[in-house]
Amino acid sequence: MIIVIDGPAGSGKSSTAKKIAELLDIQYLDSGALYRALTFLWLRTEPSDLSKFFEMLPDVKLETEYVHPTFQVKMNGEDITKEIRSQEVANHVSEMAAEPKARSFVNQYMRKLVKHDTYIADGRDLGTAVFPNADLKFYMDASLEERAKRRYRELESIEAHVTFEDVKQNLKERDYKDSNRSADPLKKDDGAILIDTTGKTFDEQISEMVEIIREKSN
Ligand code: DC
Repeated sequence: MIIVIDGPAGSGKSSTAKKIAELLDIQYLDSGALYRALTFLWLRTEPSDLSKFFEMLPDVKLETEYVHPTFQVKMNGEDITKEIRSQEVANHVSEMAAEPKARSFVNQYMRKLVKHDTYIADGRDLGTAVFPNADLKFYMDASLEERAKRRYRELESIEAHVTFEDVKQNLKERDYKDSNRSADPLKKDDGAILIDTTGKTFDEQISEMVEIIREKSN
């Protein structure tokens, strides 16, 4: 069984998916982390030349594991779980995510992984492009202001120099790029259930979604 959650950055997808994975004892897959991992590797190798980077892709060994509450990522044996959350990676990840070669690498990895267990996965195009036959599709959203507040709180402890305005601007730019790129843009699938979390407590949104999943599984 595969349950997907799509939506813009900071809409609460990953914290929600993690909590649901814990409550229902299923696996969690963070697709954004995979794009971040490729971006991290790209920034470290040949920043100016993406085509060269893609020549290396067949040799890239990605490994992921969800150990509550962290989605762990290893690239060629190196643990890069923390590094992929930096603001520098966030500032460049939309460029990587717009590349069809990066998308097919990530999609192939995900489709293979979910064959072996029940997963809840979050991203931008999971319901529309990666898992069009998902058992259940959610689309989470919240106002830009609220999403920026949430992301800022997460980042504050890791990167002291980042301001609220930087975070808000980054989200705004990513929203635009993610929704307007030609390769699998962010959009709500017709079959997805909309969960608008503006003004909702975390517990409220979890109960709402868990109830929908339980109904679907019965
Ligand atoms: O969820 P996140 O902020 O960690 O995602 C990082 C970037 O990856 C985001 O700006 C868009 C891209 N992404 C994507 O294009 N498709 C996905 N399924 C997941 C993420």
